[in-house]
Amino acid sequence: MAEPAVLLTRALVPDAMRALEGRCELHLYSGPPEAIPRDELLRRAKDKDGLLTILTERVDDEVLDAAGPRLRIVANHAVGYDNIDVPACTRRGVLVTNTPDVLTEATADLAWSLILASVRRVAEGDRFLRSRRPWIWGPQMMLGHDLYAKTLGIVGCGRIGRAVARRGIGFGMRVVYADAVRLPGDVEAELRVEWRDLPELLGESDVVSVHAPLTPQTRHLFDAVAFGRMKRTAVFVNTARGPIVDEAALADALRTGEIFAAGLDVYEREPEVPEALIGLENITLLPHLGSATIETRTAMGLLAVENLLAGLAGRRPRCLVNPEVLS
Ligand code: DGY
Repeated sequence: MAEPAVLLTRALVPDAMRALEGRCELHLYSGPPEAIPRDELLRRAKDKDGLLTILTERVDDEVLDAAGPRLRIVANHAVGYDNIDVPACTRRGVLVTNTPDVLTEATADLAWSLILASVRRVAEGDRFLRSRRPWIWGPQMMLGHDLYAKTLGIVGCGRIGRAVARRGIGFGMRVVYADAVRLPGDVEAELRVEWRDLPELLGESDVVSVHAPLTPQTRHLFDAVAFGRMKRTAVFVNTARGPIVDEAALADALRTGEIFAAGLDVYEREPEVPEALIGLENITLLPHLGSATIETRTAMGLLAVENLLAGLAGRRPRCLVNPEVLS
């Protein structure tokens, strides 16, 4: 029997590439440019049984039509799957999978890198020294804020939000969270977190860290009104998805001192980073590095491949987003 044809839109880490070897007829897009252009994606998707996609590729009706009736699975190499039109896949009986769990701790670490960088002006200090300006230690030089005994506000208390909360307890912080669904009492007690509605959380927190998925409800959840509710000493961190934040409103809040500082790993129109943010000293900007460790990207790659191969073999993939396709 012919091997299933798979389009892989970007090379994965070596272990994951090896896991694919000999298991399918692999069509790898390897650029240039680095990201597969839309017309190439449409052309190369044709007659594939599986697509292994990266979060930069939008998989919608157009791509699914281009792939045709053979398509059985879209295996996304990310926990977030807002780049995939899941209902459109479900309508066609196409399985969709993601890579949860394996990136939880790495992403929580990265959120904490941004929290610490923001409250203690780490990147700003580094830029300052590299500018070679003369300096001498001073009692008022580059003052940030303490974290100990302050309040950490987690927006979206799923796997990653909880991992960030646990680290907050370790830093001696009080932790509150806002989520559409309140956690069961025993989970709140075990995590030592208290539920708040979002406006309350924003008014109370010294650090606000976002861990919600991008949905129509969370798009621009952080707008001028939200930043206006935050303390002038607060820091804001987003490692979830860029469009959750109105970047123009964030730039205004940082410029006018409405909030103290921010750290971003994701952008509204990624990979574009607005000049209004680049020009500010009180923001730390990273190029979507949440899961970027060798260990985590290896685990993500292997999980994406495992999901793909299971779906192609007619088995239920471990991380199935649309189980209704199988019912
Ligand atoms: C994800 O998996 O959704 C991250 O944004 C990239 O690791």
